[in-house]
Amino acid sequence: MALKDVLIDELRDMYSAENQLVKALPKLAKGAEAAELKSLFTSHLEETKGQVARLKQVFEILGEKPTGEHCKGMEGVIAEGAESLEKDEEGASFDAGIVGAALRTEHYEIAGYTAAISMATTLQMGDIVGLLEENLKEELEAANKVQAAGKTIFGEAAAEPEEEADGEAGVRAKGPKATQKKTGARKSAKGGKAA
Ligand SMILES: [Fe+2]
Repeated sequence: MALKDVLIDELRDMYSAENQLVKALPKLAKGAEAAELKSLFTSHLEETKGQVARLKQVFEILGEKPTGEHCKGMEGVIAEGAESLEKDEEGASFDAGIVGAALRTEHYEIAGYTAAISMATTLQMGDIVGLLEENLKEELEAANKVQAAGKTIFGEAAAEPEEEADGEAGVRAKGPKATQKKTGARKSAKGGKAA
């Protein structure tokens, strides 16, 4: 049955993705500056371990092994996230990058579970669908929480002063921060990063 094989591959990918996240989430929790983000990642880590356990149950039902695939997609998404941890932004601007990275991981998983649930539904594998839907529900909730935290963080980041703000009466550009990035004063040799 071809579709069943595709589903098993998909699920092995998810199993790999979840296990990669079990390793990556503590790094995001450690790197994030806002306490809210830290605790969000820490609690999603616990959920993620539960998701791994559910996937194991799914494989037991299927009579298959969960291992054997490496999810390159999640590897890439996590690598992008690791880059956000190396940015030399500070405070909310730093966290803003992490929010983007975390949302990417969640939506990647949401896509994977959505596809797997559709396949399992087509194959009339009700017990598997139920387990996968529990995982999907947690991913959707996690994405919503990250997005909600993001709103606050983005607001704070937007209010953070740009770096060239100290001293030097000469370099007062337009004023309001409506004009960001490129339009900002590019004059001083140090060239502070725009948020
Ligand atoms: Fe997950």
